[in-house]
Amino acid sequence: MGFLAFLIIPLLILGISGILFIYREVVRLMSRSAMKNKVVVITDAVSGLGKECSRVFHAAGARLVLCGKAWEKLEALHDALISVADPSVTFTPKLVFLDMGDINNIQAVGKEILDCYGCVDVLINNASMKIKGPAHSVTLELDKKIMDANYFGPITLIKAILPHMISRRTGQIVLVNTIQGKLGVPFRAAYAASKHAIQGFFDCLRAEVEEFDVFVSTISPTFIRSYHVQPQPGNWEASIWKFFFRKLSYGVHPVEVAEEVLRTVSRRKQEVFMANPIPKAALYVRTFLPELFFAVVATGVKEKHFAEEEK
Ligand SMILES: NC(=O)c1ccc[n+]([C@@H]2O[C@H](COP(=O)([O-])OP(=O)(O)OC[C@H]3O[C@@H](n4cnc5c(N)ncnc54)[C@H](OP(=O)(O)O)[C@@H]3O)[C@@H](O)[C@H]2O)c1
Repeated sequence: MGFLAFLIIPLLILGISGILFIYREVVRLMSRSAMKNKVVVITDAVSGLGKECSRVFHAAGARLVLCGKAWEKLEALHDALISVADPSVTFTPKLVFLDMGDINNIQAVGKEILDCYGCVDVLINNASMKIKGPAHSVTLELDKKIMDANYFGPITLIKAILPHMISRRTGQIVLVNTIQGKLGVPFRAAYAASKHAIQGFFDCLRAEVEEFDVFVSTISPTFIRSYHVQPQPGNWEASIWKFFFRKLSYGVHPVEVAEEVLRTVSRRKQEVFMANPIPKAALYVRTFLPELFFAVVATGVKEKHFAEEEK
Protein backbone atom coordinates (compact mmCIF):
# COMPACT_ATOMS: atom_id res chain seq x y z
CA MET A 1 0.00 0.00 0.00
CA GLY A 2 2.77 2.38 1.07
CA PHE A 3 4.76 1.50 -2.06
CA LEU A 4 1.70 2.10 -4.28
CA ALA A 5 1.10 5.52 -2.73
CA PHE A 6 4.78 6.29 -3.21
CA LEU A 7 4.32 5.56 -6.93
CA ILE A 8 0.83 6.99 -7.50
CA ILE A 9 1.17 10.35 -5.75
CA PRO A 10 4.08 11.64 -7.91
CA LEU A 11 2.29 10.36 -11.03
CA LEU A 12 -0.89 12.15 -9.94
CA ILE A 13 1.02 15.39 -9.29
CA LEU A 14 2.73 15.08 -12.67
CA GLY A 15 -0.61 14.45 -14.41
CA ILE A 16 -2.33 17.41 -12.76
CA SER A 17 0.60 19.73 -13.51
CA GLY A 18 0.57 18.55 -17.13
CA ILE A 19 -3.15 19.28 -17.45
CA LEU A 20 -2.69 22.68 -15.81
CA PHE A 21 0.16 23.49 -18.14
CA ILE A 22 -1.81 22.47 -21.26
CA TYR A 23 -4.79 24.52 -20.02
CA ARG A 24 -2.57 27.59 -19.63
CA GLU A 25 -1.16 27.13 -23.13
CA VAL A 26 -4.66 26.82 -24.65
CA VAL A 27 -5.81 29.98 -22.82
CA ARG A 28 -2.66 31.77 -24.01
CA LEU A 29 -3.30 30.85 -27.64
CA MET A 30 -6.96 31.88 -27.40
CA SER A 31 -5.99 35.19 -25.78
CA ARG A 32 -3.53 35.88 -28.58
CA SER A 33 -6.01 35.21 -31.36
CA ALA A 34 -8.56 37.52 -29.67
CA MET A 35 -6.13 40.44 -30.10
CA LYS A 36 -5.81 40.27 -33.89
CA ASN A 37 -6.38 43.73 -35.48
CA LYS A 38 -7.37 45.32 -32.15
CA VAL A 39 -6.12 48.85 -31.60
CA VAL A 40 -4.17 48.65 -28.35
CA VAL A 41 -2.59 51.69 -26.67
CA ILE A 42 0.16 51.16 -24.09
CA THR A 43 1.29 54.09 -21.96
CA ASP A 44 4.97 54.10 -20.99
CA ALA A 45 5.59 51.28 -23.43
CA VAL A 46 9.32 51.56 -22.75
CA SER A 47 9.22 50.66 -19.05
CA GLY A 48 10.29 47.14 -18.06
CA LEU A 49 6.73 45.85 -18.06
CA GLY A 50 5.63 48.13 -20.91
CA LYS A 51 8.19 46.53 -23.23
CA GLU A 52 6.99 43.02 -22.40
CA CYS A 53 3.34 44.05 -22.93
CA SER A 54 4.31 45.61 -26.27
CA ARG A 55 6.05 42.40 -27.33
CA VAL A 56 3.14 40.17 -26.31
CA PHE A 57 0.41 42.31 -27.94
CA HIS A 58 2.48 42.92 -31.07
CA ALA A 59 3.09 39.20 -31.55
CA ALA A 60 -0.65 38.61 -31.08
CA GLY A 61 -1.38 40.80 -34.11
CA ALA A 62 -2.67 43.93 -32.36
CA ARG A 63 -2.36 47.35 -33.99
CA LEU A 64 -0.22 49.02 -31.36
CA VAL A 65 0.08 52.66 -30.35
CA LEU A 66 3.14 52.85 -28.13
CA CYS A 67 3.38 55.92 -25.89
CA GLY A 68 6.28 57.20 -23.84
CA LYS A 69 8.33 60.21 -22.93
CA ALA A 70 11.72 58.90 -24.12
CA TRP A 71 11.52 59.12 -27.93
CA GLU A 72 14.79 57.28 -28.63
CA LYS A 73 13.67 54.38 -26.41
CA LEU A 74 10.33 54.28 -28.25
CA GLU A 75 12.14 54.12 -31.59
CA ALA A 76 14.45 51.38 -30.32
CA LEU A 77 11.43 49.40 -29.10
CA HIS A 78 9.69 49.89 -32.45
CA ASP A 79 12.78 48.58 -34.31
CA ALA A 80 13.20 45.63 -31.95
CA LEU A 81 9.55 44.62 -32.39
CA ILE A 82 9.53 44.74 -36.17
CA SER A 83 12.91 43.02 -36.46
CA VAL A 84 11.65 39.78 -34.89
CA ALA A 85 8.02 39.79 -36.03
CA ASP A 86 6.45 38.13 -39.05
CA PRO A 87 5.17 41.13 -41.10
CA SER A 88 2.34 39.04 -42.58
CA VAL A 89 0.67 38.60 -39.18
CA THR A 90 1.72 41.77 -37.33
CA PHE A 91 1.30 45.53 -37.77
CA THR A 92 4.03 48.16 -37.57
CA PRO A 93 3.48 49.97 -34.26
CA LYS A 94 2.76 53.69 -34.21
CA LEU A 95 4.61 55.91 -31.72
CA VAL A 96 3.20 58.80 -29.73
CA PHE A 97 5.12 61.09 -27.37
CA LEU A 98 3.36 61.14 -24.00
CA ASP A 99 4.57 62.58 -20.72
CA MET A 100 1.97 61.67 -18.11
CA GLY A 101 3.09 64.56 -15.93
CA ASP A 102 2.37 67.16 -18.62
CA ILE A 103 -1.35 67.39 -17.83
CA ASN A 104 -2.09 70.37 -20.08
CA ASN A 105 -0.96 68.46 -23.14
CA ILE A 106 -2.65 65.10 -22.53
CA GLN A 107 -6.00 66.01 -24.10
CA ALA A 108 -4.15 66.79 -27.37
CA VAL A 109 -2.16 63.55 -27.09
CA GLY A 110 -5.46 61.68 -26.66
CA LYS A 111 -6.61 63.12 -30.00
CA GLU A 112 -3.32 62.15 -31.63
CA ILE A 113 -3.75 58.59 -30.32
CA LEU A 114 -7.31 58.41 -31.69
CA ASP A 115 -6.10 59.74 -35.05
CA CYS A 116 -3.60 56.85 -35.39
CA TYR A 117 -6.31 54.31 -36.35
CA GLY A 118 -9.55 56.28 -35.88
CA CYS A 119 -10.44 54.37 -32.69
CA VAL A 120 -9.04 52.69 -29.61
CA ASP A 121 -10.14 49.20 -28.57
CA VAL A 122 -7.91 48.76 -25.54
CA LEU A 123 -6.16 51.41 -23.45
CA ILE A 124 -3.50 49.97 -21.13
CA ASN A 125 -2.48 52.48 -18.45
CA ASN A 126 0.97 51.26 -17.49
CA ALA A 127 2.82 54.55 -16.91
CA SER A 128 3.66 55.43 -13.38
CA MET A 129 6.24 57.32 -11.38
CA LYS A 130 7.75 55.83 -8.25
CA ILE A 131 9.13 57.41 -5.13
CA LYS A 132 10.17 56.23 -1.71
CA GLY A 133 11.04 58.15 1.41
CA PRO A 134 9.54 59.27 4.71
CA ALA A 135 6.34 61.26 4.10
CA HIS A 136 7.67 64.33 5.92
CA SER A 137 10.79 64.47 3.72
CA VAL A 138 8.95 64.36 0.42
CA THR A 139 8.17 67.91 -0.69
CA LEU A 140 4.61 68.90 -1.49
CA GLU A 141 5.83 69.70 -4.98
CA LEU A 142 6.99 66.10 -5.41
CA ASP A 143 3.72 64.79 -3.93
CA LYS A 144 1.86 66.79 -6.60
CA LYS A 145 4.19 65.53 -9.34
CA ILE A 146 3.45 61.93 -8.34
CA MET A 147 -0.30 62.62 -8.30
CA ASP A 148 -0.05 64.21 -11.77
CA ALA A 149 1.88 61.26 -13.27
CA ASN A 150 -0.07 58.49 -11.53
CA TYR A 151 -3.57 59.92 -11.19
CA PHE A 152 -4.41 63.17 -13.02
CA GLY A 153 -2.42 62.22 -16.13
CA PRO A 154 -4.05 58.79 -16.63
CA ILE A 155 -7.57 60.08 -15.91
CA THR A 156 -7.09 62.97 -18.35
CA LEU A 157 -6.14 60.48 -21.06
CA ILE A 158 -9.07 58.24 -20.15
CA LYS A 159 -11.48 61.19 -20.36
CA ALA A 160 -10.12 61.99 -23.83
CA ILE A 161 -10.64 58.45 -25.14
CA LEU A 162 -13.64 57.16 -23.20
CA PRO A 163 -16.34 59.16 -25.06
CA HIS A 164 -15.25 57.45 -28.29
CA MET A 165 -15.50 54.03 -26.69
CA ILE A 166 -18.95 54.88 -25.34
CA SER A 167 -20.17 56.12 -28.72
CA ARG A 168 -18.86 52.91 -30.38
CA ARG A 169 -20.34 50.78 -27.57
CA THR A 170 -17.08 48.88 -27.24
CA GLY A 171 -13.72 49.22 -25.53
CA GLN A 172 -11.61 48.24 -22.59
CA ILE A 173 -9.60 50.31 -20.16
CA VAL A 174 -6.90 48.52 -18.20
CA LEU A 175 -4.91 49.75 -15.23
CA VAL A 176 -1.58 48.22 -14.32
CA ASN A 177 -1.63 49.04 -10.64
CA THR A 178 0.17 47.61 -7.63
CA ILE A 179 -0.89 46.00 -4.40
CA GLN A 180 0.01 49.40 -2.93
CA GLY A 181 -3.23 50.62 -4.46
CA LYS A 182 -4.93 48.59 -1.71
CA LEU A 183 -2.30 48.47 1.05
CA GLY A 184 -0.18 51.28 2.47
CA VAL A 185 3.41 50.43 3.35
CA PRO A 186 5.92 52.70 5.10
CA PHE A 187 8.00 55.17 3.06
CA ARG A 188 5.69 54.92 0.06
CA ALA A 189 3.06 57.45 1.11
CA ALA A 190 2.97 59.52 -2.11
CA TYR A 191 3.15 56.49 -4.40
CA ALA A 192 0.56 54.48 -2.43
CA ALA A 193 -1.76 57.52 -2.21
CA SER A 194 -1.67 58.01 -5.99
CA LYS A 195 -2.21 54.28 -6.54
CA HIS A 196 -5.16 54.23 -4.08
CA ALA A 197 -6.63 57.24 -5.93
CA ILE A 198 -6.42 55.65 -9.37
CA GLN A 199 -7.75 52.33 -8.02
CA GLY A 200 -10.76 54.19 -6.60
CA PHE A 201 -11.33 55.93 -9.93
CA PHE A 202 -11.26 52.62 -11.82
CA ASP A 203 -13.59 50.90 -9.34
CA CYS A 204 -16.18 53.67 -9.79
CA LEU A 205 -15.71 53.82 -13.56
CA ARG A 206 -16.24 50.06 -13.95
CA ALA A 207 -19.88 50.25 -12.89
CA GLU A 208 -20.56 53.49 -14.79
CA VAL A 209 -19.52 52.29 -18.23
CA GLU A 210 -20.69 48.68 -18.13
CA GLU A 211 -24.00 49.56 -19.79
CA PHE A 212 -22.04 50.90 -22.80
CA ASP A 213 -20.12 47.62 -23.17
CA VAL A 214 -16.93 49.30 -22.08
CA PHE A 215 -14.94 47.04 -19.72
CA VAL A 216 -12.66 48.14 -16.94
CA SER A 217 -9.86 45.94 -15.58
CA THR A 218 -7.20 46.36 -12.91
CA ILE A 219 -4.11 44.19 -12.54
CA SER A 220 -2.10 44.53 -9.36
CA PRO A 221 1.22 42.72 -9.04
CA THR A 222 3.13 42.86 -5.78
CA PHE A 223 6.73 43.01 -6.87
CA ILE A 224 7.98 42.49 -10.43
CA ARG A 225 11.23 40.54 -10.47
CA SER A 226 14.38 41.15 -12.51
CA TYR A 227 13.80 41.79 -16.19
CA HIS A 228 16.86 39.82 -17.25
CA VAL A 229 15.76 36.20 -16.74
CA GLN A 230 13.66 35.19 -19.74
CA PRO A 231 11.84 31.87 -20.11
CA GLN A 232 12.89 29.68 -23.01
CA PRO A 233 9.86 29.10 -25.23
CA GLY A 234 9.22 25.57 -26.36
CA ASN A 235 11.08 23.91 -23.48
CA TRP A 236 8.22 22.12 -21.74
CA GLU A 237 10.24 20.64 -18.90
CA ALA A 238 11.81 24.02 -18.08
CA SER A 239 8.45 25.77 -18.37
CA ILE A 240 6.69 23.39 -15.97
CA TRP A 241 9.53 23.80 -13.48
CA LYS A 242 9.41 27.60 -13.90
CA PHE A 243 5.64 27.57 -13.43
CA PHE A 244 6.07 25.96 -10.00
CA PHE A 245 9.16 27.98 -9.14
CA ARG A 246 7.31 31.24 -9.83
CA LYS A 247 4.44 30.17 -7.63
CA LEU A 248 6.84 29.55 -4.76
CA SER A 249 9.16 32.52 -5.18
CA TYR A 250 8.50 36.07 -4.15
CA GLY A 251 7.57 38.46 -6.96
CA VAL A 252 6.42 37.81 -10.51
CA HIS A 253 8.37 37.87 -13.72
CA PRO A 254 7.54 40.72 -16.16
CA VAL A 255 6.84 38.18 -18.92
CA GLU A 256 4.28 36.55 -16.64
CA VAL A 257 2.67 39.91 -15.89
CA ALA A 258 2.51 40.78 -19.61
CA GLU A 259 0.85 37.43 -20.38
CA GLU A 260 -1.62 38.12 -17.57
CA VAL A 261 -2.40 41.54 -19.07
CA LEU A 262 -3.16 39.79 -22.38
CA ARG A 263 -5.39 37.22 -20.63
CA THR A 264 -7.13 39.95 -18.64
CA VAL A 265 -7.90 41.89 -21.81
CA SER A 266 -9.10 38.94 -23.86
CA ARG A 267 -11.21 37.47 -21.03
CA ARG A 268 -12.35 40.85 -19.77
CA LYS A 269 -11.39 40.09 -16.20
CA GLN A 270 -12.34 42.83 -13.76
CA GLU A 271 -9.67 42.56 -11.10
CA VAL A 272 -6.48 40.52 -10.86
CA PHE A 273 -4.01 40.28 -7.98
CA MET A 274 -0.67 38.78 -8.88
CA ALA A 275 0.60 37.97 -5.45
CA ASN A 276 1.81 35.04 -3.43
CA PRO A 277 -0.20 33.92 -0.40
CA ILE A 278 1.49 36.24 2.11
CA PRO A 279 0.66 39.58 0.40
CA LYS A 280 -2.81 38.21 -0.42
CA ALA A 281 -3.34 37.31 3.24
CA ALA A 282 -2.13 40.81 4.18
CA LEU A 283 -5.06 42.28 2.24
CA TYR A 284 -7.50 40.27 4.38
CA VAL A 285 -5.66 41.14 7.60
CA ARG A 286 -5.80 44.85 6.64
CA THR A 287 -9.58 44.55 6.15
CA PHE A 288 -10.56 42.38 9.10
CA LEU A 289 -7.77 42.91 11.66
CA PRO A 290 -6.43 46.41 10.93
CA GLU A 291 -4.62 46.80 14.31
CA LEU A 292 -2.65 43.64 13.65
CA PHE A 293 -1.74 44.84 10.15
CA PHE A 294 -0.58 48.26 11.43
CA ALA A 295 1.52 46.58 14.15
CA VAL A 296 3.20 44.26 11.65
CA VAL A 297 4.08 46.98 9.13
CA ALA A 298 5.41 49.23 11.89
CA THR A 299 7.84 46.52 12.99
CA GLY A 300 11.34 47.07 11.79
CA VAL A 301 10.64 50.45 10.25
CA LYS A 302 13.83 52.43 10.00
CA GLU A 303 13.48 56.06 9.19
CA LYS A 304 15.27 57.27 6.11
CA HIS A 305 16.26 60.89 5.89
CA PHE A 306 16.12 61.64 2.25
CA ALA A 307 13.44 60.88 -0.29
CA GLU A 308 14.87 59.48 -3.47
CA GLU A 309 13.31 58.90 -6.82
CA GLU A 310 13.51 55.32 -7.95
CA LYS A 311 14.88 54.51 -11.34
N1 LIG B 1 8.35 47.14 -10.77
C1 LIG B 1 7.55 46.61 -9.85
O1 LIG B 1 7.98 45.90 -8.95
C2 LIG B 1 6.05 46.88 -9.91
C3 LIG B 1 5.23 46.25 -8.96
C4 LIG B 1 3.87 46.46 -9.03
C5 LIG B 1 3.33 47.26 -9.99
N2 LIG B 1 4.14 47.87 -10.90
C6 LIG B 1 3.52 48.74 -11.89
O2 LIG B 1 3.87 48.32 -13.18
C7 LIG B 1 3.86 49.45 -14.07
C8 LIG B 1 5.13 49.46 -14.87
O3 LIG B 1 6.21 49.57 -13.96
P1 LIG B 1 7.69 49.14 -14.35
O4 LIG B 1 8.31 48.51 -13.14
O5 LIG B 1 7.68 48.40 -15.63
O6 LIG B 1 8.39 50.55 -14.60
P2 LIG B 1 9.97 50.81 -14.58
O7 LIG B 1 10.68 49.80 -15.41
O8 LIG B 1 10.41 50.97 -13.15
O9 LIG B 1 10.11 52.19 -15.31
C9 LIG B 1 9.49 53.36 -14.83
C10 LIG B 1 9.02 54.05 -16.05
O10 LIG B 1 8.17 55.15 -15.72
C11 LIG B 1 8.43 56.16 -16.69
N3 LIG B 1 7.89 57.45 -16.26
C12 LIG B 1 8.18 58.13 -15.14
N4 LIG B 1 7.50 59.29 -15.12
C13 LIG B 1 6.75 59.32 -16.25
C14 LIG B 1 5.85 60.25 -16.84
N5 LIG B 1 5.59 61.42 -16.23
N6 LIG B 1 5.27 59.98 -18.04
C15 LIG B 1 5.55 58.83 -18.68
N7 LIG B 1 6.39 57.89 -18.20
C16 LIG B 1 7.00 58.15 -17.01
C17 LIG B 1 9.94 56.11 -16.81
O11 LIG B 1 10.39 56.78 -17.97
P3 LIG B 1 11.90 57.40 -17.98
O12 LIG B 1 12.84 56.25 -17.80
O13 LIG B 1 12.00 58.04 -19.33
O14 LIG B 1 11.95 58.38 -16.84
C18 LIG B 1 10.16 54.59 -16.92
O15 LIG B 1 10.01 54.14 -18.24
C19 LIG B 1 3.65 50.68 -13.20
O16 LIG B 1 2.33 51.12 -13.27
C20 LIG B 1 3.97 50.18 -11.79
O17 LIG B 1 3.23 50.88 -10.81
C21 LIG B 1 5.50 47.70 -10.89
